[in-house]
Amino acid sequence: MIGITELKYSNTNTYLIRGENGGILFDTGWAGTYPAFCAALGAGGKKLTDIDYILISHFHPDHMGIAQEIADKGPKILIADLQKGFVHSSDVIFEKDKRIRFEPIVDVNTEVISVEESREFLKKLGVEGEILYTPGHSDDSISLWLDEGYLFVGDLNPLYELELHKGTQIGESWEKLLALKPKKVFYGHAKTAELAEVKSDTIVDYEKNNLQEHTISEKENKDDLFRLVSQIMKYIDKGYSLDRIQRKTGADPEFIEDVNRMYLTHQNVGVQGILDRIEIKNK
Ligand SMILES: [Fe+2]
Repeated sequence: MIGITELKYSNTNTYLIRGENGGILFDTGWAGTYPAFCAALGAGGKKLTDIDYILISHFHPDHMGIAQEIADKGPKILIADLQKGFVHSSDVIFEKDKRIRFEPIVDVNTEVISVEESREFLKKLGVEGEILYTPGHSDDSISLWLDEGYLFVGDLNPLYELELHKGTQIGESWEKLLALKPKKVFYGHAKTAELAEVKSDTIVDYEKNNLQEHTISEKENKDDLFRLVSQIMKYIDKGYSLDRIQRKTGADPEFIEDVNRMYLTHQNVGVQGILDRIEIKNK
């Protein structure tokens, strides 16, 4: 029996997956969120000793910010061999801001495995599944698949955007994942997608139809919206929590969540790109 605990304490959704003989933490939040992580862990009825390994979907700052701080308490950072060259790619971002506590990953204490040997590795923890290489959002992106039908994809672009990515690396990664017939997809920033009745060709629309409606008032001045989105982006860059951004801007929390996800999951996206994607999402 597998236990999945969602730990939401920063702008990233992170997950504790417990098998009978061990637990894996999938992703962490931004640097400086360690106290919030501990609080979320406690609120979920879990302890640090429930974590044996930390697996990072990709080494962007909002997914690996406190990995080493957690590892200092005992859990080991597990690295897929193809991620090796990326482990320190975000260090420079945190080093710029001395006010935030950040510990770079200590390479000698990590454990590197290949995706091919991941099934055997996970089995030892009582977790039936595997780690898959799913590039597209970044070259170091991996996903975690559990045979029960659960899929953790980090920042791989959500299924409802799939039509935008046909024929790209993102589309290819999804093809590989959809062939597994997932029942539930857990994202780093988007809402969990339930694909309960999986019929290979209908899977994409399901999530689209289940998205909560939220529309932008037509009367809303376009310039204001532009300004609001760029303001939210600036606050995200500063590592502010979504609650804090809400207090500062007074904007709709779901809108802020959308901007946050679009901004963090699309490299080099601008204000207009974010607004376009929100429009597609709400279609
Ligand atoms: Fe990312």
